[in-house]
Amino acid sequence: MSKLDIISIRNQFPILHQEVNGKPLVYFDNAATTQKPQAVIDALVKYYNTDNANIHRAAHTLAARSTDMFEDTRKTIQAFINAKEVEECIFTKGVTESINLVAQTWGRKFLQAGDEVIITTMEHHSNIVPWQMICEEKGAILKVIPINEAGELLMDDYDKLLSSKTKMVACVWVSNALGTINPVKEIIQKAHAFGAIVLLDGAQACSHLAVDVQDLDCDFLAVSSHKLYGPTGVGVLYGKRELLEAMPPYQGGGEMIKEVSFEKTTYNEIPYKFEAGTPNIGDVIAFKYALDFVNEIGKENISAHENALLKQCVDGLDAINVKTLHATSLQDKPITLIGTAKQKVSVQSFVINGMHHFDAGMMLDAKGIAVRTGHHCTQPLMNRLGLDGTIRASFSVYNTLEEVDVFLEAVQRLVKLSNK
Ligand code: ALA
Repeated sequence: MSKLDIISIRNQFPILHQEVNGKPLVYFDNAATTQKPQAVIDALVKYYNTDNANIHRAAHTLAARSTDMFEDTRKTIQAFINAKEVEECIFTKGVTESINLVAQTWGRKFLQAGDEVIITTMEHHSNIVPWQMICEEKGAILKVIPINEAGELLMDDYDKLLSSKTKMVACVWVSNALGTINPVKEIIQKAHAFGAIVLLDGAQACSHLAVDVQDLDCDFLAVSSHKLYGPTGVGVLYGKRELLEAMPPYQGGGEMIKEVSFEKTTYNEIPYKFEAGTPNIGDVIAFKYALDFVNEIGKENISAHENALLKQCVDGLDAINVKTLHATSLQDKPITLIGTAKQKVSVQSFVINGMHHFDAGMMLDAKGIAVRTGHHCTQPLMNRLGLDGTIRASFSVYNTLEEVDVFLEAVQRLVKLSNK
């Protein structure tokens, strides 16, 4: 167990200190979105109270102040992911937009009929649909790396899929539905050996794992602010300079231009070439405080604590199975864990046999416990596993072992109900 002072961490999150349905809130839906520390909330309020102005445009003091703060966040995220150059970090509205940007610019320019794009069975819809759209448009072919029952990629099959036709490998680093940590360094090395580009969907990884894009040698990384204790509506696309420079702009408008005439427009340098229009300035500025929050605690400490929460949860669910089988004439375990990879972050999906996941979610909510139920925007993964959804508990640094116990007690009651 880590030596973190969880009480003082929790005290930075006002939202956690409330009752829901007459019970203390237990927030276990962190893979959907994390809660925001007071520093992030204060930064937003301060920005609108004292600094609000458009950036990169005017000579006045407020504009200079907001521009500096906006660009400060860019420097902070550069350090956070260890990008070589600050210009390689583009602000978007989220991971979905970051992936669509690459598919619609790099994909439209560089994919040709017969080229292949490889994704995995465990992709979120946001890393499937943009590739389907561009593959359909260009006559390219989408290939999928299969998984085993534990939710791990079958790397031998990946080897077989790779060829000189492979142009892009777009892969989720950590599965939102299963928690699996994919061997992305190996995936990248193998793709590069065939001259393919690699995009990592870092939505779930960046809050749990150390990120070093230079060490990984990924070509693109999509980052989400709101899964990293920051505001919604902000994401980052990291891309290697030479790739970003070779790509056409995503959207046309203000800021992304150098010169406009009715005959011809020349485009701005990166990152601005990809940041058309007034961005989400206040939220980008507040995002810096979320990154500072994570840096202050340290990823290693965060992971150690989250792993302890996951272990207690998994052990507890296993114990419910053992206890129930002892006490009843059931042949099958009442709980099936979904996602049992050896390398995992603090996400546990499961189903209660004989109870619909949605009903389970409602009954947990009645006890003040927030989990996500459903297909988790991973319908192809659910189809592969023969499920229409799961109950998913996902833990964050501010969760406690006591909360896991409350959750396990509630699940035990659901199992009893499902046996009736
Ligand atoms: N992708 C988010 C989740 O897994 C919304 O819940």
